Amino acid sequence: MNMPSEKLPEEKLLLRALAGEATPYVPFWLMRQAGRYLPEYRELRKKAGSFLDLCFSPELAAEVTLQPLRRFDMDAAILFSDILVIPYALGQKLDFAEGEGPRLGPFPGLKDFHDFDIGAFDKKLQPVYETVSRVREALEPDKALIGFAGAPWTVACYMIQGHGDNEFTAVKKFAFGNPSGFDKLINTLVEATSRYLIEQIRHGADTVQIFDSWAGLLPDHYFERWVIAPTRKIVDNIHKVFPKFPVIGFPRRAGQLYQPYAEKSGVSCVGLDQYFPLKEAVHSFGRKVALQGNLDPVLLLIGGKPLESALHYILKSAENAPFIFNLGHGVIKETPLEHIEQLAKIIKTHQR
Ligand code: CP3
Repeated sequence: MNMPSEKLPEEKLLLRALAGEATPYVPFWLMRQAGRYLPEYRELRKKAGSFLDLCFSPELAAEVTLQPLRRFDMDAAILFSDILVIPYALGQKLDFAEGEGPRLGPFPGLKDFHDFDIGAFDKKLQPVYETVSRVREALEPDKALIGFAGAPWTVACYMIQGHGDNEFTAVKKFAFGNPSGFDKLINTLVEATSRYLIEQIRHGADTVQIFDSWAGLLPDHYFERWVIAPTRKIVDNIHKVFPKFPVIGFPRRAGQLYQPYAEKSGVSCVGLDQYFPLKEAVHSFGRKVALQGNLDPVLLLIGGKPLESALHYILKSAENAPFIFNLGHGVIKETPLEHIEQLAKIIKTHQR
């Protein structure tokens, strides 16, 4: 008899979908599945002190990673951390003011990755790797563990702007005005992110997601240069160490540029936001990559009939495709727990 830890990775539904199989049941997880909508998260968050303290306390971060699975039996856990730990590990000041989102210190400038203190970089991220190991240990063998990082473009947006925004005009001014200088920042982030993701994989991540939340802000030729090309390099760097390792790419709001992203970035799976029609994705690039997405988080917020019919529509749209159910963006913090129970029940009992 197999001991749980000896189970093959193929037994994880999520990995089967990532490998291109239209699985008999649709695996699911939710972006921001660990977070403020969960009372047990809010409680632990209070105990931890700051948000960064929570990210860098392996025992607490592992606990938070596992919390949503205990309630809703998702097919995967996503590491609890944040995309902004990369600028932090590169030496940029970072804190999360209560109710205000991230605040970063002055931009460290356009330096090559090797001009940073790499020893300090590795050391600062060590607790994250320990969290990955702990979750790996604790996780049931049929559940996948998702590591993640922000994509270079999205992380650069926060590094230059210093805080969240909807347009990042200051960043675009900087990048369009000095594209070859900006390439240097992107290349630094490619190196840092590759190193970070490879370490997560070494510590037990089954797949990694690259969050490019602000990909949709770039016009097409810059999209090729600062979204597709850097993603491709990160995927290639991962594949040099772990050939064929499945990577999920999430170029949010990429619109028509989803297609070239799917064709050229090298990812195994493309995460769709709620604005891209899933049916169209299945037809145009659903044979090249697996798809993930794409319920509007507001439908989960309101629940009931509208949620139910949206779920059936999504399941029907993805009928014979390798598909992972998710939201089009993160869980909204006011979302009632019962609506996630309703969602889990419908997805988990739907047989294809
Ligand atoms: O998905 C998960 O459950 C894993 C954990 C996770 C967090 N952030 C925890 C978090 C992940 C994958 C992220 C990614 C992230 N972080 C992104 C990409 C995805 C997206 O949302 O577009 C971005 C842009 C960030 C940067 C960031 N972190 C912002 C803008 C904020 C403030 C907004 C907010 O919701 O408060 C954060 C804080 C953050 N990251 C929280 C959590 C649970 C809330 C902090 C708290 O508990 O006080």
